[in-house]
Amino acid sequence: MAKKLSIERIIHNQGFGARKLCRIMVWNNEITVNGQPCDDPNTEFELENLSYTVKGEAWQYREKSYLMLHKPSNYECSHKTQHHPTIYSLLPHPLVVRDVQCIGRLDEDTTGLILISDDGQFIHKMSSPKHKVPKVYEVTCKHAVDEAQIAHILKGVQLIDEDAPIAALECTRISENVIHMTLAEGKYHQVKRMVAAISNRVEGLKRIQIGELKLPDDLAVGEWRWLSVDDMMKLAPK
Ligand code: URA
Repeated sequence: MAKKLSIERIIHNQGFGARKLCRIMVWNNEITVNGQPCDDPNTEFELENLSYTVKGEAWQYREKSYLMLHKPSNYECSHKTQHHPTIYSLLPHPLVVRDVQCIGRLDEDTTGLILISDDGQFIHKMSSPKHKVPKVYEVTCKHAVDEAQIAHILKGVQLIDEDAPIAALECTRISENVIHMTLAEGKYHQVKRMVAAISNRVEGLKRIQIGELKLPDDLAVGEWRWLSVDDMMKLAPK
């Protein structure tokens, strides 16, 4: 049988505040469900394909949240930040209440694609070293990158504190100073440390792909969107 819940519980579960507050919003006619006003907090609805509005803003019921964000520079991937605003301030408040977490952190000066979810299993799977989901970075280097440096990155560079050399899965030159680097791991400052190991220096870093999922051209810096089924398929490990 299809799962049903009262509207009070639904909007509470979706991150719109304490049960009491949600009840008051329903009483105050601030909620519509599937296009109809609803002023009884106990009215039950099937969860599948449920759409609702809260204070005029449209939402779709989601058991779990899966989203992507185009991270700007000067934002930190942490709930408790030190120097810059948190990336979570770029998301609607109900998602933050649902305790969404980013999957793998980017440095504060790194931009690009970051995944965010409140599904613990998904987060674990995507971040586990066992699954080795490849990530592609666009790296702008201080000095021109030559073939020998690319060969070195592909062969493997020795990083301090690592037992064995680490190699990029792929490394291609886009222009004199710009390379695309694909990594299987997500070690601390990995791109910056690998580029330093070839006697160069990262001046700009942007993550442009995770698995087969590319940062969409039309997702502006600072914007987020829900992951579609198609996007999720592109993240599934091969
Ligand atoms: N590697 C880095 O050095 N920084 C990032 O933010 C991501 C990968």
